[in-house]
Amino acid sequence: MDVHSTRQQLFANELKVLRRNFSTTGTTSFLPIYLQTLMSGEKLSFNLYVKVSANDQQEVTFLPFLEAEEVLEPSWVEVLDKLGVDRFYFRRRDLERVIAYLNNHLLLFDSQKGRNHSKEKLLVLVEHLNFSLYRAFNSPHLGRFIHLAQTQVERLVQLLQKDIASLKLVWELLYRNYSLYNHSLNVCLLGIGLMLFSHKSRYDSLIVGLACLFHDLGLTRVPEELRYHRDSWDGEEWETIKKHPQLGYQMLKECESIPPEVLQLVLEHHENADGSGYPRGLSLNQQHPWTRIIRLVDAYDGLTGHRPNQQPLAPFAALKSLQNQVSPKGPRFDPRTLKNFIRFLALP
Ligand SMILES: [Fe+2]
Ligand SMILES: [Fe+2]
Repeated sequence: MDVHSTRQQLFANELKVLRRNFSTTGTTSFLPIYLQTLMSGEKLSFNLYVKVSANDQQEVTFLPFLEAEEVLEPSWVEVLDKLGVDRFYFRRRDLERVIAYLNNHLLLFDSQKGRNHSKEKLLVLVEHLNFSLYRAFNSPHLGRFIHLAQTQVERLVQLLQKDIASLKLVWELLYRNYSLYNHSLNVCLLGIGLMLFSHKSRYDSLIVGLACLFHDLGLTRVPEELRYHRDSWDGEEWETIKKHPQLGYQMLKECESIPPEVLQLVLEHHENADGSGYPRGLSLNQQHPWTRIIRLVDAYDGLTGHRPNQQPLAPFAALKSLQNQVSPKGPRFDPRTLKNFIRFLALP
């Protein structure tokens, strides 16, 4: 099918567009991109596809919607919005082009100073960071790309620090898919949000943001099938999973630009308040003061995210479940941090 017939069928609502995508790592050669991050009325520098179910079976195909050098017509965007189509797909080999395109979009925002477009800009920034992270995690030159992603986190902290209205947007920016990148981004947004909400400094918020973004880097060294089947891990598999904080720590240690505090936080991100965590089983006062922040927002996103084989919990149900995790040595999640997080979630 060519782009014209795809558009025709799509606009006539004759295609069954698939909305949710799991895992964007490894297996597929197409990556999702949110419609809202594209510049309507502008030419594209890469091809766009829609993900449809070819028939009533489980078969999935990607149909070409727009070719590079074509203009994304604003009227199409409107129709797609009405149809509830919120994302396109691009080929993995176009990743560099997409990152450059999103970079241009960010520059465009910077040049239109007077207008208030915090939300749009944040969306583009987060998507840019999502793909930068994808590139970093899949590249042999980790250090260089990690450094690039770092400057984006600084921009994110700066934007979110502007006012309470921006901070509230965090809840709307969270990804509803599951992939390691989306999860890392969600944890990063929530971590920075909670730090700024608790009136922590820009520097401390940046440290937490970076640690959150890279906390599961070590999982890229764990077989993908293993990551998603948490209920069926046997003893040996569990031992493998448990190594990811140290693996991530070692990988990041090679990158000169990463501050030592970030390394410590990555190493400690599975330590619990009651000392039942791993790798070292540290008690709260032995941990870095921000470990409890990352531990909480990571667990929260784990419960509320759409993962394969798991129904997501609603925000308050997830908070309840975290609150109920208490061992004879006390609560697993620091109650003060949890209380603050609830206030952040309930931001009017
Ligand atoms: Fe982890
Ligand atoms: Fe995680």
